[in-house]
Amino acid sequence: MKIEGSVVLVTGANRGLGAAYARAALAAGARKVYAAARDPASVALEGVVPIALDVTDAAQVAAAARECADVTLLINNAGISRGAGLLDASAGFDEARAEFETNFFGPWAMTRAFAPVLKANGGGAVVNVLSALSWLSLPGAASYSASKAAAWSLSNGLRNELRAQGTQVTSVHVAFMDTDMARKIPGDKISPDEVARQTLAAVEAGAPEVLADATTRSVKQGLVADPPVYAAAR
Ligand SMILES: NC(=O)c1ccc[n+]([C@@H]2O[C@H](COP(=O)([O-])OP(=O)(O)OC[C@H]3O[C@@H](n4cnc5c(N)ncnc54)[C@H](OP(=O)(O)O)[C@@H]3O)[C@@H](O)[C@H]2O)c1
Repeated sequence: MKIEGSVVLVTGANRGLGAAYARAALAAGARKVYAAARDPASVALEGVVPIALDVTDAAQVAAAARECADVTLLINNAGISRGAGLLDASAGFDEARAEFETNFFGPWAMTRAFAPVLKANGGGAVVNVLSALSWLSLPGAASYSASKAAAWSLSNGLRNELRAQGTQVTSVHVAFMDTDMARKIPGDKISPDEVARQTLAAVEAGAPEVLADATTRSVKQGLVADPPVYAAAR
């Protein structure tokens, strides 16, 4: 599909990669960009339509699908990482549940709500922002990794189920990106603007997947290595 003339909704559009998607969509000639955020007053970009949307709030998801009935490209970008370990019993499951609510059930609920909208508007596309950690578990981010692995499977299932109505699904895998989420992590990080550029190009090409950086490409290749990349010591 063409970005020019499209109507885009980006979740978590107030900062980080979400803000980069909103900027890139406007620059590529989108007819309208809904910049969805938990606090719409935090959307600083001119030229977008800010809307209030917490992706874990069923009523707000339903309202967004009703009110943004012209959407042709849904970008499920919102995500959280709480840094929970797997074996610390004192941590409970609250942090992991929050990650799954936002990173897995959020995009699922959004796509389910917007599927009829996309169908009515000719098919369009869904982008799901995943991670290199969909394929690899990182110490300190193991439950986040699990949520992104589940979201990868979700993305593949949605692609199957949306095919009949002509809606394409593009999964975006990226390692570390220069945003608030990775602020404390040292080393090279890809810029969110570059990830947004690659994503919109993939949507235009009808590609199922973006492997945004060298680390992500090497992780994916490592799935078939012996030993596989996810079994190596970290
Ligand atoms: N940064 C990385 O290294 C990296 C790597 C791989 C993948 N990713 C993924 O990239 C995506 C964007 O993350 P980022 O790096 O831009 O992180 P970020 O700077 O922390 O931004 C996260 C965004 O998600 C929003 N958000 C969180 N929970 C939400 C909810 N329940 N409903 C609606 N919006 C919510 C935040 O809104 P508030 O301002 O209201 O908190 C914020 O706009 C995420 O899916 C993340 O998992 C990031």
